[in-house]
Amino acid sequence: MKLEDLANPHIRELEPYQPGRPIEDVERELGIRGAVKLASNENPLGPSPGAIAAVLDNIGLANRYPDGGCFALRARLAPHLGVKPDQLVFGCGGDEILELLVKTFLAPGDEAVMPWPSFAMYPLVVKGMGGVSSRVPLDPEMCHDLPAMIEAVGSRTKLVFVCNPNNPTGTSFGAAEFAEFVAGLPDHVVLVIDEAYCEFARRADFPDSIGLLEDRPATLVLRTFSKVYGLAGLRVGYGMGSPELIGLLERARHPFNVNRLAEVAACAALDDEEHVRRTLELNAVGADYLTEELSAMGYQVWPTDANFILVRMGVGFHQALLERGVIVRPLKGFGLDEHVRISIGRPEENEKLVKALQEIRLGAEAQGSAS
Ligand SMILES: Cc1ncc(COP(=O)(O)O)c(C=O)c1O
Repeated sequence: MKLEDLANPHIRELEPYQPGRPIEDVERELGIRGAVKLASNENPLGPSPGAIAAVLDNIGLANRYPDGGCFALRARLAPHLGVKPDQLVFGCGGDEILELLVKTFLAPGDEAVMPWPSFAMYPLVVKGMGGVSSRVPLDPEMCHDLPAMIEAVGSRTKLVFVCNPNNPTGTSFGAAEFAEFVAGLPDHVVLVIDEAYCEFARRADFPDSIGLLEDRPATLVLRTFSKVYGLAGLRVGYGMGSPELIGLLERARHPFNVNRLAEVAACAALDDEEHVRRTLELNAVGADYLTEELSAMGYQVWPTDANFILVRMGVGFHQALLERGVIVRPLKGFGLDEHVRISIGRPEENEKLVKALQEIRLGAEAQGSAS
């Protein structure tokens, strides 16, 4: 018997998640220096200086188990969000909150409805539990087709994911269409509102998801310290919901899932409002710059409410950019062969991308006129 035959069939069939390639990896392979990574929607400013200091202050306690319940972070975050402390659950990144959700609510054969393309972890965690993903295509503007998502809900549907703003498109939906969607959603499904990028949203009518929690107890709002707070490497995310729903997720949570350094860094990051303000400003300026430059080159760029943009460039561009030391995210795995997702970087990183694209185009033109 092969070892593989011993594994659960739904695990055997899983395609592992492909993360953005690390800078060192690309530099080593291509023998280059000074590569920039605009591929994983990280905060280009780095962590808050306060978060760095908090980590250094606490490293000496690494011999002690952490408080997975995150008492200190909970006490700070609850008033910041306007929820009660028992409405929060913390995870090793938002990814773990997704795991807790499927572990808690999905049995093999149960369905989860999700937009597509969207965050690649949704179908992975669903399949990891033996569940079935029902992927509802985005509309022609690359936005959630919320009416079609309601249509897709059936008797076996346990979870419905929405991602606002959506990864990898950066598009978002507003309060009015969301209210209509929620009103049409049967009570028997748990609604997951993934707001990993909500802090970057610039539209005035961005939905008030926290306001929904009282009226719809089977709802979880997911957020993270990985993006605007710049702590992707430390892994802290959280879910917000009714105390009842949070209590269920707490049963599925491992006791020491969030480490002490992550917790103290998250507390400090939350307190550093100036760092958040600078991050948002840098992102807005960078998003406008890249949108303008790439549109002027004739590429289709989607409006973004996140810290990345979706661009239709043509097949093979991500590789040509990689060879010039610019790592962007190809979206071939989503069936978008001509599209890339570009994270907004610091001004010099964004400029490096634009310059690399200009070089690629000049090279192609020169080749075209020579042949
Ligand atoms: C839409 C979305 N949700 C959740 C996450 C999870 O983030 P993390 O596990 O770093 O908190 C990500 C990360 O990229 C994301 O893009």
